[in-house]
Amino acid sequence: MNLKKLFIDYFVSKGHVEIPSAPLIPENDPSVLFNTAGMQPLIPYLMGKEHPEGKRLCDYQKCVRLTDLDSIGDKTHHTFFEMLGNWSLGDYFKKESIEYSYEFLTKVLKIPVERLAVTVFAGTDKIPRDEVSASIWKNLGIKEERIAYLGVEDNFWIAGESGPCGGDTEIFYYRGDNIPEKFDPKDDHWVEIWNNVFMEYNKDASGNITELPKKNVDTGMGLERVVAILEGVTDNYATSIWKNIIAKIEELSHKPYKGNETSMRIIADHIRTSVFISADYAGIVPSNTDQGYILRRLIRRAIRHAKKLEIDMESSWLEETAKVVIQEYINYYPEIKDNQTHILEVLKEERIKFNHTLEKGLKEFSKVLAHIKNSTIDAESAFRLYDTYGFPIELTEEMAEEKGLTVDTAGFKEKFKAHQELSRTASAGKFKGGLASTGEKETMYHTATHLLNAALKIVVDKNVHQKGSNITSERMRFDFSCDHKLSDEEKHKVEEIVNNWIKEDLPVTMSTMPKEEALKSGAEAMFIEKYADIVNVYSIGNVSKEICGGPHVTNTGKLGKFRIIKEEASSAGVRRIKAILE
Ligand code: ALA
Repeated sequence: MNLKKLFIDYFVSKGHVEIPSAPLIPENDPSVLFNTAGMQPLIPYLMGKEHPEGKRLCDYQKCVRLTDLDSIGDKTHHTFFEMLGNWSLGDYFKKESIEYSYEFLTKVLKIPVERLAVTVFAGTDKIPRDEVSASIWKNLGIKEERIAYLGVEDNFWIAGESGPCGGDTEIFYYRGDNIPEKFDPKDDHWVEIWNNVFMEYNKDASGNITELPKKNVDTGMGLERVVAILEGVTDNYATSIWKNIIAKIEELSHKPYKGNETSMRIIADHIRTSVFISADYAGIVPSNTDQGYILRRLIRRAIRHAKKLEIDMESSWLEETAKVVIQEYINYYPEIKDNQTHILEVLKEERIKFNHTLEKGLKEFSKVLAHIKNSTIDAESAFRLYDTYGFPIELTEEMAEEKGLTVDTAGFKEKFKAHQELSRTASAGKFKGGLASTGEKETMYHTATHLLNAALKIVVDKNVHQKGSNITSERMRFDFSCDHKLSDEEKHKVEEIVNNWIKEDLPVTMSTMPKEEALKSGAEAMFIEKYADIVNVYSIGNVSKEICGGPHVTNTGKLGKFRIIKEEASSAGVRRIKAILE
Protein backbone atom coordinates (compact mmCIF):
# COMPACT_ATOMS: atom_id res chain seq x y z
CA MET A 1 0.00 0.00 0.00
CA ASN A 2 1.32 3.39 -0.97
CA LEU A 3 0.00 5.68 1.74
CA LYS A 4 1.55 8.84 0.28
CA LYS A 5 -0.23 8.26 -3.02
CA LEU A 6 -3.57 7.37 -1.41
CA PHE A 7 -3.43 10.51 0.71
CA ILE A 8 -2.52 12.87 -2.12
CA ASP A 9 -5.04 11.29 -4.53
CA TYR A 10 -7.78 11.61 -1.95
CA PHE A 11 -7.16 15.27 -1.20
CA VAL A 12 -6.65 16.15 -4.85
CA SER A 13 -10.05 14.59 -5.50
CA LYS A 14 -11.38 17.04 -2.91
CA GLY A 15 -10.02 20.04 -4.79
CA HIS A 16 -6.59 20.31 -3.15
CA VAL A 17 -3.41 21.10 -5.06
CA GLU A 18 -0.37 19.01 -4.25
CA ILE A 19 2.60 21.18 -3.31
CA PRO A 20 6.17 19.89 -3.14
CA SER A 21 7.78 19.10 0.18
CA ALA A 22 9.72 22.13 1.38
CA PRO A 23 13.45 21.69 2.02
CA LEU A 24 14.53 20.07 5.24
CA ILE A 25 16.83 23.00 5.99
CA PRO A 26 14.55 26.06 6.18
CA GLU A 27 15.58 28.96 3.98
CA ASN A 28 15.98 32.28 5.72
CA ASP A 29 14.82 31.06 9.08
CA PRO A 30 17.77 30.94 11.43
CA SER A 31 15.53 30.19 14.41
CA VAL A 32 15.23 26.49 13.58
CA LEU A 33 17.78 24.03 12.25
CA PHE A 34 15.29 21.80 10.47
CA ASN A 35 11.76 21.80 9.26
CA THR A 36 9.74 20.19 12.02
CA ALA A 37 6.18 20.30 10.64
CA GLY A 38 4.42 20.50 7.31
CA MET A 39 2.95 23.88 8.17
CA GLN A 40 6.25 25.62 8.78
CA PRO A 41 6.86 26.65 5.16
CA LEU A 42 3.22 27.77 4.94
CA ILE A 43 3.34 30.25 7.82
CA PRO A 44 3.09 33.41 5.63
CA TYR A 45 -0.03 31.96 3.99
CA LEU A 46 -1.60 30.94 7.27
CA MET A 47 -1.01 34.55 8.33
CA GLY A 48 -3.12 35.75 5.42
CA LYS A 49 -0.93 35.98 2.34
CA GLU A 50 -2.40 34.50 -0.83
CA HIS A 51 -0.87 31.20 -1.88
CA PRO A 52 -0.17 30.95 -5.63
CA GLU A 53 -1.64 27.44 -5.73
CA GLY A 54 -4.93 28.40 -4.13
CA LYS A 55 -6.74 27.79 -0.88
CA ARG A 56 -6.65 24.00 -0.66
CA LEU A 57 -3.27 22.38 -0.48
CA CYS A 58 -1.81 18.99 0.41
CA ASP A 59 1.63 17.45 0.55
CA TYR A 60 3.99 15.02 2.18
CA GLN A 61 6.64 16.91 4.06
CA LYS A 62 10.10 15.92 5.22
CA CYS A 63 10.62 16.69 8.89
CA VAL A 64 13.44 16.27 11.38
CA ARG A 65 12.73 16.49 15.10
CA LEU A 66 15.64 16.20 17.44
CA THR A 67 13.72 16.15 20.69
CA ASP A 68 13.39 12.41 20.22
CA LEU A 69 17.06 11.78 19.54
CA ASP A 70 17.59 9.99 22.84
CA SER A 71 14.61 7.73 22.24
CA ILE A 72 15.94 6.46 18.92
CA GLY A 73 16.55 2.78 19.24
CA ASP A 74 13.03 2.05 20.47
CA LYS A 75 10.28 0.90 18.13
CA THR A 76 8.41 4.09 17.46
CA HIS A 77 10.78 7.04 17.27
CA HIS A 78 12.60 8.49 14.29
CA THR A 79 14.75 11.57 13.85
CA PHE A 80 13.49 11.96 10.29
CA PHE A 81 9.89 11.31 9.36
CA GLU A 82 7.38 12.20 6.72
CA MET A 83 4.23 14.08 7.58
CA LEU A 84 1.13 13.98 5.42
CA GLY A 85 -0.81 17.22 5.52
CA ASN A 86 -3.76 19.06 4.05
CA TRP A 87 -4.54 22.74 4.41
CA SER A 88 -7.40 25.10 4.01
CA LEU A 89 -6.22 28.69 3.73
CA GLY A 90 -9.34 30.60 4.63
CA ASP A 91 -11.51 28.08 2.78
CA TYR A 92 -13.24 25.17 4.57
CA PHE A 93 -13.07 24.91 8.34
CA LYS A 94 -14.02 22.36 11.00
CA LYS A 95 -16.85 20.53 9.25
CA GLU A 96 -15.15 19.58 5.99
CA SER A 97 -11.82 19.08 7.66
CA ILE A 98 -13.21 16.51 10.09
CA GLU A 99 -15.36 14.88 7.41
CA TYR A 100 -12.39 14.51 5.06
CA SER A 101 -10.24 12.95 7.78
CA TYR A 102 -13.01 10.58 8.79
CA GLU A 103 -13.73 9.54 5.22
CA PHE A 104 -10.06 9.03 4.40
CA LEU A 105 -9.48 6.87 7.47
CA THR A 106 -12.64 4.78 7.32
CA LYS A 107 -13.37 4.60 3.59
CA VAL A 108 -9.98 4.84 1.89
CA LEU A 109 -7.83 3.17 4.56
CA LYS A 110 -10.77 1.10 5.78
CA ILE A 111 -9.96 1.56 9.44
CA PRO A 112 -12.94 0.32 11.49
CA VAL A 113 -14.62 3.14 13.35
CA GLU A 114 -14.57 0.99 16.52
CA ARG A 115 -10.83 1.58 16.66
CA LEU A 116 -11.09 5.37 16.54
CA ALA A 117 -11.38 7.99 19.24
CA VAL A 118 -10.85 11.74 19.27
CA THR A 119 -9.87 14.61 21.49
CA VAL A 120 -11.23 18.13 21.11
CA PHE A 121 -10.18 21.40 22.69
CA ALA A 122 -11.66 22.04 26.14
CA GLY A 123 -11.15 25.80 25.74
CA THR A 124 -9.81 28.45 28.12
CA ASP A 125 -11.34 31.41 29.89
CA LYS A 126 -11.01 33.32 26.61
CA ILE A 127 -11.52 30.62 23.98
CA PRO A 128 -14.73 28.58 24.10
CA ARG A 129 -14.87 24.82 24.43
CA ASP A 130 -14.98 23.26 20.97
CA GLU A 131 -18.51 21.84 20.92
CA VAL A 132 -18.62 22.42 17.17
CA SER A 133 -15.98 19.78 16.46
CA ALA A 134 -17.44 17.43 19.05
CA SER A 135 -20.86 17.54 17.43
CA ILE A 136 -19.40 17.01 13.95
CA TRP A 137 -17.67 13.89 15.27
CA LYS A 138 -20.87 12.67 16.89
CA ASN A 139 -22.79 13.15 13.66
CA LEU A 140 -20.24 11.01 11.89
CA GLY A 141 -20.80 8.20 14.37
CA ILE A 142 -18.10 8.69 16.99
CA LYS A 143 -19.68 7.81 20.32
CA GLU A 144 -19.72 10.25 23.21
CA GLU A 145 -17.44 8.03 25.32
CA ARG A 146 -14.87 8.12 22.55
CA ILE A 147 -14.54 11.91 22.70
CA ALA A 148 -12.28 13.55 25.29
CA TYR A 149 -12.04 17.29 25.95
CA LEU A 150 -8.48 18.32 26.71
CA GLY A 151 -6.89 21.64 27.52
CA VAL A 152 -4.14 23.86 26.15
CA GLU A 153 -1.39 21.38 27.01
CA ASP A 154 -2.80 18.74 24.68
CA ASN A 155 -5.16 20.33 22.23
CA PHE A 156 -3.80 23.74 21.32
CA TRP A 157 -1.13 23.71 18.65
CA ILE A 158 1.63 26.18 17.87
CA ALA A 159 5.03 25.70 16.26
CA GLY A 160 7.41 26.96 18.93
CA GLU A 161 6.63 30.12 20.88
CA SER A 162 4.78 32.38 18.47
CA GLY A 163 2.94 32.42 15.17
CA PRO A 164 -0.33 31.05 13.81
CA CYS A 165 -2.06 28.71 16.23
CA GLY A 166 -5.35 27.31 17.39
CA GLY A 167 -7.23 24.55 19.10
CA ASP A 168 -7.08 21.15 17.50
CA THR A 169 -8.85 17.85 17.33
CA GLU A 170 -6.68 14.75 17.39
CA ILE A 171 -7.59 11.32 16.10
CA PHE A 172 -6.47 8.19 17.95
CA TYR A 173 -6.32 4.55 16.92
CA TYR A 174 -6.55 1.61 19.33
CA ARG A 175 -3.70 -0.81 18.96
CA GLY A 176 -4.44 -4.20 20.46
CA ASP A 177 -7.24 -6.64 21.17
CA ASN A 178 -10.25 -6.10 23.44
CA ILE A 179 -10.97 -2.55 22.38
CA PRO A 180 -12.43 -0.71 25.38
CA GLU A 181 -15.73 1.15 25.05
CA LYS A 182 -14.39 4.27 26.64
CA PHE A 183 -11.46 6.27 25.32
CA ASP A 184 -8.66 6.92 27.78
CA PRO A 185 -6.03 9.25 26.31
CA LYS A 186 -3.58 8.07 28.99
CA ASP A 187 -3.76 4.44 27.87
CA ASP A 188 -0.94 4.10 25.35
CA HIS A 189 -2.76 1.49 23.32
CA TRP A 190 -4.48 4.57 21.94
CA VAL A 191 -2.00 6.15 19.54
CA GLU A 192 -2.45 9.54 17.96
CA ILE A 193 -2.50 9.33 14.19
CA TRP A 194 -3.75 12.68 12.92
CA ASN A 195 -3.91 16.20 14.19
CA ASN A 196 -6.32 18.73 12.69
CA VAL A 197 -5.44 22.21 13.87
CA PHE A 198 -7.96 24.99 13.44
CA MET A 199 -5.67 27.93 13.05
CA GLU A 200 -7.60 31.03 13.79
CA TYR A 201 -5.22 32.94 16.08
CA ASN A 202 -1.83 34.50 16.00
CA LYS A 203 0.36 34.62 19.08
CA ASP A 204 2.92 37.40 18.95
CA ALA A 205 6.33 37.43 20.58
CA SER A 206 4.98 39.00 23.78
CA GLY A 207 2.25 36.40 24.09
CA ASN A 208 -0.75 38.43 22.87
CA ILE A 209 -3.31 36.40 21.03
CA THR A 210 -5.23 38.02 18.16
CA GLU A 211 -7.53 36.61 15.51
CA LEU A 212 -6.05 35.83 12.11
CA PRO A 213 -7.63 37.51 9.08
CA LYS A 214 -8.85 34.08 7.91
CA LYS A 215 -9.65 30.81 9.59
CA ASN A 216 -7.37 28.04 8.39
CA VAL A 217 -6.98 24.32 8.79
CA ASP A 218 -3.57 22.69 9.21
CA THR A 219 -3.41 18.93 9.54
CA GLY A 220 -0.55 16.53 10.08
CA MET A 221 -0.45 12.74 10.00
CA GLY A 222 2.72 10.80 10.80
CA LEU A 223 3.37 8.48 7.89
CA GLU A 224 5.55 5.93 9.69
CA ARG A 225 3.05 5.44 12.46
CA VAL A 226 0.04 5.02 10.21
CA VAL A 227 1.87 2.56 7.96
CA ALA A 228 2.72 0.48 11.05
CA ILE A 229 -0.94 0.45 12.03
CA LEU A 230 -2.12 -0.49 8.57
CA GLU A 231 0.44 -3.26 8.36
CA GLY A 232 -0.56 -4.53 11.77
CA VAL A 233 2.80 -4.26 13.52
CA THR A 234 3.80 -2.47 16.70
CA ASP A 235 7.40 -1.97 15.62
CA ASN A 236 7.64 0.83 13.03
CA TYR A 237 10.94 -0.66 11.86
CA ALA A 238 9.16 -3.89 10.94
CA THR A 239 7.06 -2.11 8.28
CA SER A 240 7.60 -2.05 4.53
CA ILE A 241 9.19 1.40 4.96
CA TRP A 242 12.23 -0.08 6.66
CA LYS A 243 12.23 -3.61 5.27
CA ASN A 244 15.01 -3.19 2.70
CA ILE A 245 17.10 -0.96 4.93
CA ILE A 246 16.98 -3.38 7.87
CA ALA A 247 17.64 -6.30 5.48
CA LYS A 248 20.81 -4.55 4.32
CA ILE A 249 21.98 -4.09 7.91
CA GLU A 250 21.25 -7.77 8.62
CA GLU A 251 23.31 -8.72 5.60
CA LEU A 252 26.22 -6.46 6.54
CA SER A 253 26.28 -7.56 10.18
CA HIS A 254 25.50 -11.25 9.51
CA LYS A 255 22.90 -10.96 12.25
CA PRO A 256 19.14 -11.25 12.15
CA TYR A 257 17.05 -8.23 13.10
CA LYS A 258 16.08 -10.18 16.19
CA GLY A 259 19.73 -10.12 17.26
CA ASN A 260 20.41 -6.62 18.43
CA GLU A 261 17.50 -4.46 17.49
CA THR A 262 18.50 -1.25 19.25
CA SER A 263 21.74 -0.83 17.34
CA MET A 264 20.10 -1.82 14.08
CA ARG A 265 17.33 0.69 14.55
CA ILE A 266 19.79 3.44 15.46
CA ILE A 267 21.85 2.69 12.36
CA ALA A 268 18.78 2.58 10.11
CA ASP A 269 17.28 5.76 11.52
CA HIS A 270 20.49 7.77 11.56
CA ILE A 271 21.56 6.79 8.06
CA ARG A 272 18.15 7.69 6.66
CA THR A 273 18.27 11.11 8.34
CA SER A 274 21.88 11.66 7.24
CA VAL A 275 20.93 10.89 3.65
CA PHE A 276 18.17 13.50 3.77
CA ILE A 277 20.28 16.17 5.49
CA SER A 278 23.12 15.79 3.03
CA ALA A 279 20.68 15.64 0.09
CA ASP A 280 19.28 19.06 0.90
CA TYR A 281 20.21 21.74 -1.61
CA ALA A 282 21.62 23.82 1.26
CA GLY A 283 24.76 21.70 0.89
CA ILE A 284 25.22 20.72 4.54
CA VAL A 285 28.36 18.71 5.30
CA PRO A 286 29.53 17.33 8.66
CA SER A 287 31.04 20.07 10.80
CA ASN A 288 31.12 21.27 14.36
CA THR A 289 28.25 23.72 14.17
CA ASP A 290 24.51 23.76 13.53
CA GLN A 291 23.07 21.27 11.04
CA GLY A 292 26.57 20.08 10.16
CA TYR A 293 27.12 19.05 13.76
CA ILE A 294 23.84 17.14 13.88
CA LEU A 295 24.85 15.36 10.68
CA ARG A 296 28.23 14.51 12.19
CA ARG A 297 26.65 13.22 15.40
CA LEU A 298 24.20 11.04 13.51
CA ILE A 299 26.84 9.50 11.27
CA ARG A 300 29.32 8.92 14.09
CA ARG A 301 26.68 7.39 16.33
CA ALA A 302 25.66 5.07 13.50
CA ILE A 303 29.30 4.11 13.01
CA ARG A 304 29.73 3.30 16.68
CA HIS A 305 26.68 1.05 16.63
CA ALA A 306 27.88 -0.60 13.43
CA LYS A 307 31.08 -1.46 15.25
CA LYS A 308 29.05 -2.96 18.07
CA LEU A 309 27.35 -5.18 15.50
CA GLU A 310 30.79 -6.18 14.20
CA ILE A 311 30.12 -4.80 10.75
CA ASP A 312 33.36 -4.62 8.74
CA MET A 313 34.52 -1.08 9.47
CA GLU A 314 36.86 -1.02 6.49
CA SER A 315 34.08 -1.81 4.05
CA SER A 316 31.79 0.74 2.47
CA TRP A 317 28.88 -0.50 4.65
CA LEU A 318 27.64 3.05 5.33
CA GLU A 319 27.35 3.96 1.67
CA GLU A 320 25.82 0.56 0.89
CA THR A 321 23.09 1.18 3.42
CA ALA A 322 22.65 4.76 2.22
CA LYS A 323 22.18 3.46 -1.32
CA VAL A 324 19.21 1.42 -0.14
CA VAL A 325 17.74 4.52 1.53
CA ILE A 326 18.28 6.50 -1.67
CA GLN A 327 16.42 3.86 -3.70
CA GLU A 328 13.47 3.97 -1.29
CA TYR A 329 12.98 7.72 -1.74
CA ILE A 330 14.41 8.54 -5.14
CA ASN A 331 11.03 8.74 -6.84
CA TYR A 332 9.60 11.10 -4.27
CA TYR A 333 12.27 13.69 -3.61
CA PRO A 334 14.18 15.37 -6.45
CA GLU A 335 17.09 16.36 -4.22
CA ILE A 336 17.76 12.69 -3.47
CA LYS A 337 17.89 12.00 -7.18
CA ASP A 338 19.98 15.07 -8.02
CA ASN A 339 22.47 14.65 -5.21
CA GLN A 340 23.03 10.89 -5.06
CA THR A 341 26.76 11.06 -5.69
CA HIS A 342 27.17 13.96 -3.31
CA ILE A 343 25.32 12.14 -0.50
CA LEU A 344 27.50 9.07 -0.85
CA GLU A 345 30.65 11.18 -0.94
CA VAL A 346 29.68 13.06 2.21
CA LEU A 347 28.98 9.83 4.08
CA LYS A 348 32.13 8.15 2.85
CA GLU A 349 34.35 11.08 3.82
CA GLU A 350 32.90 11.20 7.32
CA ARG A 351 33.14 7.42 7.72
CA ILE A 352 36.80 7.42 6.77
CA LYS A 353 37.54 10.41 8.98
CA PHE A 354 35.95 8.80 12.04
CA ASN A 355 37.41 5.37 11.30
CA HIS A 356 40.87 6.89 11.74
CA THR A 357 40.23 7.80 15.33
CA LEU A 358 37.47 5.47 16.48
CA GLU A 359 39.66 2.56 17.49
CA LYS A 360 42.13 4.74 19.38
CA GLY A 361 39.26 6.69 20.91
CA LEU A 362 37.66 3.51 22.23
CA LYS A 363 40.99 2.52 23.80
CA GLU A 364 41.24 5.96 25.34
CA PHE A 365 37.72 5.57 26.66
CA SER A 366 38.68 2.27 28.35
CA LYS A 367 41.68 4.00 29.92
CA VAL A 368 39.43 6.76 31.21
CA LEU A 369 37.16 4.14 32.75
CA ALA A 370 40.09 2.52 34.52
CA HIS A 371 40.82 5.76 36.39
CA ILE A 372 37.34 6.99 36.94
CA LYS A 373 36.28 8.71 40.18
CA ASN A 374 32.74 9.05 41.53
CA SER A 375 31.28 7.22 38.51
CA THR A 376 31.78 10.40 36.48
CA ILE A 377 33.92 10.96 33.42
CA ASP A 378 35.74 14.23 34.07
CA ALA A 379 35.47 17.19 31.72
CA GLU A 380 39.07 16.97 30.61
CA SER A 381 38.75 13.36 29.43
CA ALA A 382 35.46 14.10 27.68
CA PHE A 383 37.06 17.04 25.95
CA ARG A 384 40.07 14.95 24.92
CA LEU A 385 37.73 12.35 23.44
CA TYR A 386 36.01 15.12 21.52
CA ASP A 387 39.00 17.11 20.40
CA THR A 388 41.54 14.38 19.68
CA TYR A 389 39.34 11.43 18.82
CA GLY A 390 36.30 13.13 17.33
CA PHE A 391 33.77 11.74 19.82
CA PRO A 392 30.77 14.08 19.96
CA ILE A 393 29.99 14.70 23.63
CA GLU A 394 26.62 13.00 23.19
CA LEU A 395 28.42 9.86 22.06
CA THR A 396 30.62 9.86 25.15
CA GLU A 397 27.52 10.38 27.27
CA GLU A 398 25.78 7.46 25.60
CA MET A 399 28.80 5.17 26.09
CA ALA A 400 29.08 6.28 29.70
CA GLU A 401 25.41 5.60 30.29
CA GLU A 402 25.78 2.08 28.94
CA LYS A 403 28.30 1.53 31.74
CA GLY A 404 26.09 3.16 34.34
CA LEU A 405 28.29 6.27 34.47
CA THR A 406 27.79 9.97 33.90
CA VAL A 407 29.86 12.71 32.29
CA ASP A 408 30.74 16.12 33.62
CA THR A 409 28.95 17.73 30.69
CA ALA A 410 28.85 21.20 32.25
CA GLY A 411 32.63 21.09 32.67
CA PHE A 412 32.96 19.86 29.11
CA LYS A 413 30.91 22.78 27.84
CA GLU A 414 33.13 25.24 29.63
CA LYS A 415 36.23 23.73 28.12
CA PHE A 416 34.56 23.66 24.76
CA LYS A 417 33.69 27.35 25.00
CA ALA A 418 37.17 28.32 26.06
CA HIS A 419 38.54 26.31 23.16
CA GLN A 420 36.14 27.95 20.72
CA GLU A 421 37.14 31.41 21.84
CA LEU A 422 40.77 30.45 21.51
CA SER A 423 40.48 29.18 18.01
CA ARG A 424 37.93 31.86 17.09
CA THR A 425 35.69 29.31 15.54
CA ALA A 426 32.74 30.30 17.66
CA SER A 427 29.67 29.93 15.52
CA ALA A 428 29.61 33.08 13.45
CA GLY A 429 25.92 32.92 12.71
CA LYS A 430 23.88 30.60 10.62
CA PHE A 431 24.63 31.23 7.01
CA LYS A 432 23.08 29.34 4.21
CA GLY A 433 24.07 28.54 0.68
CA GLY A 434 26.33 25.53 0.87
CA LEU A 435 28.30 26.86 3.79
CA ALA A 436 28.98 24.50 6.63
CA SER A 437 31.18 26.85 8.57
CA THR A 438 31.98 30.46 7.98
CA GLY A 439 35.71 30.90 8.06
CA GLU A 440 37.50 33.43 5.89
CA LYS A 441 38.35 30.88 3.25
CA GLU A 442 34.79 29.60 3.00
CA THR A 443 33.53 33.15 2.61
CA MET A 444 35.96 33.69 -0.28
CA TYR A 445 34.79 30.51 -1.96
CA HIS A 446 31.21 31.54 -1.50
CA THR A 447 31.78 34.76 -3.43
CA ALA A 448 33.70 32.79 -6.06
CA THR A 449 30.65 30.59 -6.71
CA HIS A 450 28.72 33.72 -7.73
CA LEU A 451 31.47 34.71 -10.15
CA LEU A 452 31.62 31.18 -11.55
CA ASN A 453 27.85 31.12 -11.99
CA ALA A 454 27.98 34.42 -13.91
CA ALA A 455 30.93 33.32 -16.05
CA LEU A 456 29.22 30.05 -17.00
CA LYS A 457 26.24 32.04 -18.22
CA ILE A 458 28.52 33.97 -20.57
CA VAL A 459 30.62 31.04 -21.78
CA VAL A 460 28.20 28.11 -21.80
CA ASP A 461 24.65 29.34 -21.97
CA LYS A 462 22.67 32.14 -20.37
CA ASN A 463 20.25 29.53 -19.06
CA VAL A 464 22.81 27.79 -16.89
CA HIS A 465 21.54 27.63 -13.33
CA GLN A 466 23.07 26.63 -10.07
CA LYS A 467 21.92 23.20 -8.90
CA GLY A 468 23.87 22.93 -5.72
CA SER A 469 27.07 23.96 -4.05
CA ASN A 470 29.32 22.70 -1.35
CA ILE A 471 32.17 24.59 0.20
CA THR A 472 35.00 23.60 2.47
CA SER A 473 38.03 25.65 3.45
CA GLU A 474 39.98 23.79 0.76
CA ARG A 475 37.80 24.02 -2.31
CA MET A 476 34.47 24.86 -3.77
CA ARG A 477 32.14 22.57 -5.61
CA PHE A 478 29.47 23.92 -7.88
CA ASP A 479 26.73 21.97 -9.67
CA PHE A 480 24.95 23.55 -12.61
CA SER A 481 22.48 22.66 -15.31
CA CYS A 482 24.29 21.82 -18.53
CA ASP A 483 23.85 19.05 -21.05
CA HIS A 484 27.45 18.59 -22.14
CA LYS A 485 30.97 18.08 -20.88
CA LEU A 486 32.79 21.42 -20.93
CA SER A 487 35.57 21.61 -23.49
CA ASP A 488 39.06 22.72 -22.41
CA GLU A 489 38.42 25.94 -24.23
CA GLU A 490 35.24 26.59 -22.30
CA LYS A 491 36.97 25.87 -18.99
CA HIS A 492 39.86 28.23 -19.81
CA LYS A 493 37.46 30.92 -20.87
CA VAL A 494 35.52 30.60 -17.60
CA GLU A 495 38.74 30.81 -15.58
CA GLU A 496 39.88 33.83 -17.55
CA ILE A 497 36.63 35.72 -17.02
CA VAL A 498 36.52 34.97 -13.29
CA ASN A 499 40.17 35.97 -12.87
CA ASN A 500 39.58 39.21 -14.76
CA TRP A 501 36.72 40.07 -12.44
CA ILE A 502 38.96 39.31 -9.48
CA LYS A 503 41.62 41.62 -10.89
CA GLU A 504 39.08 44.39 -11.37
CA ASP A 505 38.53 44.28 -7.59
CA LEU A 506 34.76 44.62 -7.98
CA PRO A 507 32.79 45.70 -4.90
CA VAL A 508 30.36 43.22 -3.36
CA THR A 509 27.24 44.91 -2.05
CA MET A 510 24.11 43.68 -0.35
CA SER A 511 20.59 45.06 -0.33
CA THR A 512 17.40 43.78 1.21
CA MET A 513 14.17 43.86 -0.78
CA PRO A 514 10.88 42.03 -1.33
CA LYS A 515 11.37 38.79 -3.23
CA GLU A 516 9.22 39.90 -6.19
CA GLU A 517 11.28 43.03 -6.62
CA ALA A 518 14.48 40.98 -6.50
CA LEU A 519 13.24 38.58 -9.15
CA LYS A 520 11.97 41.41 -11.33
CA SER A 521 15.35 43.10 -11.16
CA GLY A 522 16.83 39.93 -12.67
CA ALA A 523 18.49 38.60 -9.54
CA GLU A 524 19.54 34.98 -9.89
CA ALA A 525 17.50 32.70 -7.63
CA MET A 526 18.18 29.07 -7.08
CA PHE A 527 14.87 27.79 -5.81
CA ILE A 528 12.39 30.58 -6.09
CA GLU A 529 9.57 29.02 -4.13
CA LYS A 530 11.69 28.51 -1.05
CA TYR A 531 12.68 32.11 -0.40
CA ALA A 532 11.11 34.27 2.26
CA ASP A 533 9.21 37.36 1.28
CA ILE A 534 12.08 39.66 2.06
CA VAL A 535 15.43 38.57 0.70
CA ASN A 536 19.04 39.66 0.61
CA VAL A 537 20.45 40.35 -2.83
CA TYR A 538 24.21 40.33 -3.32
CA SER A 539 25.62 42.21 -6.29
CA ILE A 540 29.18 41.96 -7.53
CA GLY A 541 29.99 45.07 -9.62
CA ASN A 542 27.50 44.72 -12.41
CA VAL A 543 28.48 41.17 -13.31
CA SER A 544 26.41 39.20 -10.83
CA LYS A 545 23.24 39.62 -8.81
CA GLU A 546 21.95 36.76 -6.68
CA ILE A 547 19.44 36.21 -3.93
CA CYS A 548 21.60 34.74 -1.22
CA GLY A 549 22.13 34.52 2.52
CA GLY A 550 25.83 35.35 2.35
CA PRO A 551 28.40 35.86 3.75
CA HIS A 552 30.69 37.37 1.13
CA VAL A 553 33.97 39.21 0.87
CA THR A 554 33.69 42.95 0.35
CA ASN A 555 35.78 43.10 -2.84
CA THR A 556 36.67 40.45 -5.40
CA GLY A 557 40.34 41.51 -5.28
CA LYS A 558 40.64 39.44 -2.09
CA LEU A 559 40.02 36.15 -3.88
CA GLY A 560 43.48 35.39 -5.31
CA LYS A 561 43.60 33.20 -8.40
CA PHE A 562 40.71 31.01 -9.47
CA ARG A 563 41.45 27.62 -10.99
CA ILE A 564 39.14 24.77 -12.07
CA ILE A 565 40.56 21.46 -10.92
CA LYS A 566 37.84 19.14 -12.12
CA GLU A 567 34.76 19.14 -14.32
CA GLU A 568 32.56 16.09 -14.31
CA ALA A 569 29.01 14.81 -14.59
CA SER A 570 26.98 15.06 -11.39
CA SER A 571 23.65 13.64 -12.53
CA ALA A 572 21.59 13.73 -15.72
CA GLY A 573 21.79 17.24 -17.15
CA VAL A 574 23.92 18.48 -14.27
CA ARG A 575 27.68 19.09 -14.40
CA ARG A 576 29.94 19.64 -11.44
CA ILE A 577 32.97 21.89 -11.19
CA LYS A 578 35.50 21.70 -8.42
CA ALA A 579 37.68 24.75 -8.17
CA ILE A 580 40.21 26.32 -5.88
CA LEU A 581 41.47 29.78 -5.04
CA GLU A 582 45.26 29.96 -5.03
N1 ALA B 1 1.03 21.24 12.57
C1 ALA B 1 0.37 20.15 13.22
C2 ALA B 1 1.35 19.13 13.76
O1 ALA B 1 2.50 19.18 13.44
C3 ALA B 1 -0.62 19.51 12.31
O2 ALA B 1 0.93 18.28 14.51
